[in-house]
Amino acid sequence: MTALIEMTVVDTDLGAATDWDGVIVVFVGADQKLDACACKVNTLTRKAVDRAVQSDAFDALPDGGALRLAYPAGVAANAVIIVKLDRKPEQASARKAGATLALEKGPHPLLVMAGNLGGMDDVALGLILRDYAYSDHKTAAPKARGPATLMMSKPDTLDLQGLRAVAEGVFFTRDLINAPANDLTTTSFADRLAELQTLGLKVEVLEEAKLEKLGMGALLCVGQGSASPSKVVVMQWNGGGDEAPFALVGKGVVFDTGGISIKPAGGMEDMTMDMGGAGVVSGVMKTLAMRKAKANVVGLVGIVENMPSDRAVRPGDVVTSMKGDTIEVINTDAEGRLVLADVLWYAQDRFKPAAMINLATLTGAMIIALGHENAGVFSNSDELSVAFLKSAGAEGEGAWRLPMAPAYDKLINSRIADMKNTGGRPAGSITAAQFLGRFVADELPWAHLDIAGVASVKGATALAPAGATGWGVMALNRLILDNYEA
Ligand code: BES
Ligand code: MN
Ligand code: ZN
Repeated sequence: MTALIEMTVVDTDLGAATDWDGVIVVFVGADQKLDACACKVNTLTRKAVDRAVQSDAFDALPDGGALRLAYPAGVAANAVIIVKLDRKPEQASARKAGATLALEKGPHPLLVMAGNLGGMDDVALGLILRDYAYSDHKTAAPKARGPATLMMSKPDTLDLQGLRAVAEGVFFTRDLINAPANDLTTTSFADRLAELQTLGLKVEVLEEAKLEKLGMGALLCVGQGSASPSKVVVMQWNGGGDEAPFALVGKGVVFDTGGISIKPAGGMEDMTMDMGGAGVVSGVMKTLAMRKAKANVVGLVGIVENMPSDRAVRPGDVVTSMKGDTIEVINTDAEGRLVLADVLWYAQDRFKPAAMINLATLTGAMIIALGHENAGVFSNSDELSVAFLKSAGAEGEGAWRLPMAPAYDKLINSRIADMKNTGGRPAGSITAAQFLGRFVADELPWAHLDIAGVASVKGATALAPAGATGWGVMALNRLILDNYEA
């Protein structure tokens, strides 16, 4: 489990700059004006701050970028970092400034002299989120991480607990998505979710016998070739009144070989992230519990492994879903929709939710359409999709709506069953969404988020190193906060 950086907030004490044993941070806007904190450090360092701020290098910095003065005279600190940031910064710039600090601080205690800088919650969040490294499988001791002390004129205005709740959810999601499949098996995944009970979540693990009784033939056929048992985990957060819950549903394929329709070897190792949808649902539930959200939210994840074996489902097999509809399995690599079909149906059947969003690394076609910048949003509700796009935009998480329409349905009609599980190459992400839509009641506001391109990426992003991003935790947390809480 990756721990958050230790962070404390204290009152401004300019005198502390003289003897700080670590790294000192001050903020200067594009106007080059020094606030009281920067002035103090400037005086101590015999105007080194002034010189830096007047330089071409400072001029060329993007908002949120920084200059580093190493071993400056006049202070005990081994470096002074000058961050370029306006006193009332844009959210993205403030988060970027925090991320810059995470990358610049090294192992040393950080003294962030913010004074009356606006946007400190975003600076702090950027710092916390970018200070992440997945080291569960490194034998070397993890790098030392010094704590951060935020020095502010109004320390009480920073809701550190709230920020930590969000970041803990994001880190939980990233840890799950980064984990290899021999570490995160179906069983260990369920065990990790059961641990969330200590936060006040109600967690149930439905085992195969129960899933069979429920008639989840679509979900079960995906895992039947694997030695790891399939599971559905139900997480309930009841922080609201007696209103119907908001439902989150996630695809949790701990590894997707493609099954009998096996994938090519190149890049197959990336399919450890095919539980990304379930990972995001789990992270959101953790955040809701940690911040004691005043909402009723239920998170359901279908956890399976898609393996080829003598018992595996075959192309051409027909399975019966919990809903009762039959599905011809054309391609065993289109497994996510089979898992979701049953979990979506179960979620509606049992919880009668007010609205429902599912997340899944569902189609490679999503990456062809939107790359790694935006997740695909598919919905039967203008209201819900607009609300989600707004939340995602507010958190800087890319999302773009794509169409759904009955005309696409003919692509997944089957000759021998009620439907088939693939529609061929045209509009591959849309036909997958249409398939899911067949398992959602028309009147229920529902959205499907295809996160194949954004759940895990090859290079670092603004707030995460290469690998799992945690995309969606903040957007969904905000959606719930802004729309489903009293
Ligand atoms: N898990 C994959 C989709 C995926 C691909 C996610 C790349 C992340 C990165 C999914 O189960 C899958 O294999 N989809 C197939 C569907 C096809 C057989 C209709 C695909 O996209 O090729
Ligand atoms: Mn697949
Ligand atoms: Zn998959």
